[in-house]
Amino acid sequence: MSEQSNKPLVIGLAGFGTVGGGLARLLEENADLIRRRGGRDMIVKKVLVRHAGKARNVALPPGAELTTDPAALTDDPEIDVLVELMGGIEAPGKIIDRALDMGKHVVTANKALLAEKGLALLEKARDKDRILRYEASVAGAIPVVAALKESLAGNRIASLVGILNGTSNYILSEMTSNGLDFNVALKQAQELGYAEADPTLDIDGHDAAHKLTILIQLAYGAYYPFTAMPVRGIRGLSGMDIRLAREFGYRIKLIAQVRECDHQPGESPRLEAGVFPALVHHTLLLARVGGVYNAVRVESNAAGSLFFHGRGAGDLPTAGAVLADLVAVAREERPNNTGFVSPRLEAAAVVPPEEWRSCYYVRLMVDDAPGVLRDLAGCMADEGISLAQVIQKSDEGNGVPLVFMTHETTEEAMSRALQHSLDRGMLREPAVYFRVVG
Ligand code: NAP
Ligand code: HSE
Repeated sequence: MSEQSNKPLVIGLAGFGTVGGGLARLLEENADLIRRRGGRDMIVKKVLVRHAGKARNVALPPGAELTTDPAALTDDPEIDVLVELMGGIEAPGKIIDRALDMGKHVVTANKALLAEKGLALLEKARDKDRILRYEASVAGAIPVVAALKESLAGNRIASLVGILNGTSNYILSEMTSNGLDFNVALKQAQELGYAEADPTLDIDGHDAAHKLTILIQLAYGAYYPFTAMPVRGIRGLSGMDIRLAREFGYRIKLIAQVRECDHQPGESPRLEAGVFPALVHHTLLLARVGGVYNAVRVESNAAGSLFFHGRGAGDLPTAGAVLADLVAVAREERPNNTGFVSPRLEAAAVVPPEEWRSCYYVRLMVDDAPGVLRDLAGCMADEGISLAQVIQKSDEGNGVPLVFMTHETTEEAMSRALQHSLDRGMLREPAVYFRVVG
């Protein structure tokens, strides 16, 4: 280690909210451990916030100066590393860009920024030979970024299935186990500090999609354009579907999934990726991931199946991941920002969602009359869809719920069959349908 690297690591902390406050606490509580692991002390010199006068639950790190001026961090020659924990895209993007220009290393937990604008920042970090680390950006405390970048570098990744949004998982768990109303559960998640500043990112699936975009880069060394990713969240999900899914032995989870299709050695993989609520059989570990917990299941060609589970959000769990990145910076490790050495991440070949194959849960609200089941089954058969199980429940005021569990089919065939049923007046309202994830 050089003489320089024995000096304290000087941090510019941009953001002092849930995660920033957690980091300040951990830097104090774990100071001895940090010194032993990183070989140096860590000092926060400046803390950037939006509202300087705001009352805060956590004290500023000793000696730190509060500022509302980003340049006070980015242009301070004594600051070695910028830690960005602000959230948003434009403002943190500019601050990180400037910090890299000024020769600083960067640690961030900002998945929205990385998914939507990360390529340019990764390229700049590479050009400037700076470390850009982002362990906390995906699945909070779960060390999945390091696992894909380092521990699994010798494995080809066949698929990756995750529960990547703690807020949605908390809401679904509360609706399933305690019968809570969607909005009540969301409010609780916000009070616990799990939700994004804009919680629509959580419940509409975009936060999970941001994280999946990052995982795809780490697993395949390819960029899956965020705007091309099919994303469906849990807004409007009905308690009726949670109950009916249970009768078939399933839980409904917000799933983020990528699968490699038609793998050809030496060629870029075609990837099938998206975020959607799905049925997961109760016997699978994924179905048992409750509350704010996250999980990632990786299928790989050497290690086989791996399952990571842990807290996906919250102050200390997330701050612990940020701190691990800071320890790597303190050690002055050689930058390994993407896990791949190629100068640019190539665009992934995308499998259109219509071609995806899976089994489905389909709920139809219908008249309780002779021939209805025959006609609906006929619409499915016309598209080559084979039914695996059927149940009908009693009248809920808007017809009777009729539920099909199907064998594997394509999204295209399923949407055509359901549109045809609706057009022929067989349904009281548009069908609700979810994939089944195995
Ligand atoms: P937060 O509680 O809302 O805190 C954001 C902090 O950044 C606040 O201190 C705020 O200042 C400051 N800030 C925001 N915009 C600013 C701007 N334009 N200029 C200066 N300061 C600004 O957010 P958080 O929950 O800690 O999340 C921080 C980041 O971590 C986000 O990218 C989030 O996605 C990510 N993350 C969060 C969690 C979690 O569990 N919360 C988990 C994983 C990743 P004021 O205090 O003055 O308002
Ligand atoms: N809002 C995010 C979640 C925080 O609920 O998972 C962690 O990234």
